[in-house]
Amino acid sequence: MNEIENIAKQIIANGKGILAADESTVTMTKRLSSVGVESTEKNRLRFRETLFSSEGMSSYIGGVILYDETIKQKASNGKTIPELIKSFGSIPGIKVDTGAKVFASSSEEKITEGLDGLRERLTEYHKLGARFTKWRAVYNIREIGASQHEVYPTELAIKSNAHTLARYAALVQEAKMVPIVEPEVLMDGVHDIKKCHEVTTKVLKECFKELKLHKINLKGILLKPNMILPGNKSKNKSNTNEIAKMTLKCLKESVPNEVPGIVFLSGGQTEIEATENLNEINRINDTNFLMSFSYGRALQQSALKSWGQNMKNNANTQKLNTQRLFNHRSKMNSLSTSAKWYPQMEKQTNA
Ligand code: 13P
Repeated sequence: MNEIENIAKQIIANGKGILAADESTVTMTKRLSSVGVESTEKNRLRFRETLFSSEGMSSYIGGVILYDETIKQKASNGKTIPELIKSFGSIPGIKVDTGAKVFASSSEEKITEGLDGLRERLTEYHKLGARFTKWRAVYNIREIGASQHEVYPTELAIKSNAHTLARYAALVQEAKMVPIVEPEVLMDGVHDIKKCHEVTTKVLKECFKELKLHKINLKGILLKPNMILPGNKSKNKSNTNEIAKMTLKCLKESVPNEVPGIVFLSGGQTEIEATENLNEINRINDTNFLMSFSYGRALQQSALKSWGQNMKNNANTQKLNTQRLFNHRSKMNSLSTSAKWYPQMEKQTNA
């Protein structure tokens, strides 16, 4: 089991984090059309290759989560995408769930699918160079309203998603890869930070109960949770210190010590919020966990915008402008893993 324990540590060693570039084609199409770019296979590859060949990769990005389409593509220099990522000293990973689907037993909630045929797909992904994987479960919060609405997440959704995450993690460790276990409590809603803390704690405790039952080596996983935040429509805002304190409190209450690292998702926070909150968590971190990032939108947003704006420019200018922004964001997030980020640094966009 040492092999996977080492991979887990290596991904987040030396202030590095994870670039989540595993958007499904449907999600990537939304992202590209938001900056006026057509979502063709070539455009998806060009944008992603631009990020994966940035200078910042070798200093700040320890792992990249890929989508099925991307792990099988080739870069313009003839290398496969996993080879390109490895050439920067980073580790290729792969999203293996097939998406969160409507839950038949609770139709306003989601259950993540993808266990059928997973053992065979894992063998294939390992051959293609993947050394870690991701599976995301989602939970929404709804408190009792004026009507007789059900409260979410239900016990059933919490238990079923935890069971599925554990079965996924067991298959991944069997295939000698590191499972990222991602139970995401969504920030949509009017709830306050206390409610997010209560629900996330319950969700995480159930996940670890199932992971233990399925005999998962906890030293060979990475946990990818949401930060503890008020709902995006909450009347009660929270400052970054409160967010950091509540996040640490939740993790101390629910995550076993053996877990080597926590890699947060950004979940709809702005780029700066995601950096600032991670910085504060690390400033007051009194746990043994390494706290890093596994951001999608919070690492790619400004780079994607620039890429779209430069679509008509010469390809090299487009590449350099995009990479400059991606390098900067990666550096800022890397600094926040050791609480060395300051707001003034946002003015210097050269990594
Ligand atoms: P965000 O950081 O955009 O939330 O994406 C991370 C991720 O991988 C979600 O599954």
